Amino acid sequence: MKCGDGWMILVLNGPNLNMLGKREPEVYGRQTLEQLEELIEGWGTEHEFSVVCRQSNMEGTLIDWLQRAESEGFTGVIFNPGALSHYSYALYDAIKGQNLPVIEVHLSNIHAREPFRRLSVTAPACLGVVSGLGPEGYRYALIHLAERLAG
Ligand code: DQA
Repeated sequence: MKCGDGWMILVLNGPNLNMLGKREPEVYGRQTLEQLEELIEGWGTEHEFSVVCRQSNMEGTLIDWLQRAESEGFTGVIFNPGALSHYSYALYDAIKGQNLPVIEVHLSNIHAREPFRRLSVTAPACLGVVSGLGPEGYRYALIHLAERLAG
């Protein structure tokens, strides 16, 4: 399904990502979530995507958004589940249980940090993962979805 003149991509950010800019800037950068979302929306426009960004600290809300994404007309999802990546089997099931391509993104390189971050339990349910490239990770995920959806 196409929306307007492009595809419709849902960008989800999970717990604590609303604190970007204030939270451990040496790890996550100085950009606020609002600034990050503006950047992503701009990249979406470049690739003729309509991008909708949402953030929640609630696991259940993220699950509801994933479950509804296809019926809301989205064609792909870019998802930074935050710390839920490391333990949420409910999110794994939610990603697995829907039909859209989901790309997991982490601003930091989760493999170069504390041992508990090195495992993402949600990643195996996703099409792919971009980790450690900062905000650019969202851009690469968008470019990949653009090429994939264009077929
Ligand atoms: C994160 C990495 C997670 O380990 C952490 O809990 C986050 C952010 C990232 O974008 O690097 O909240 O997903």
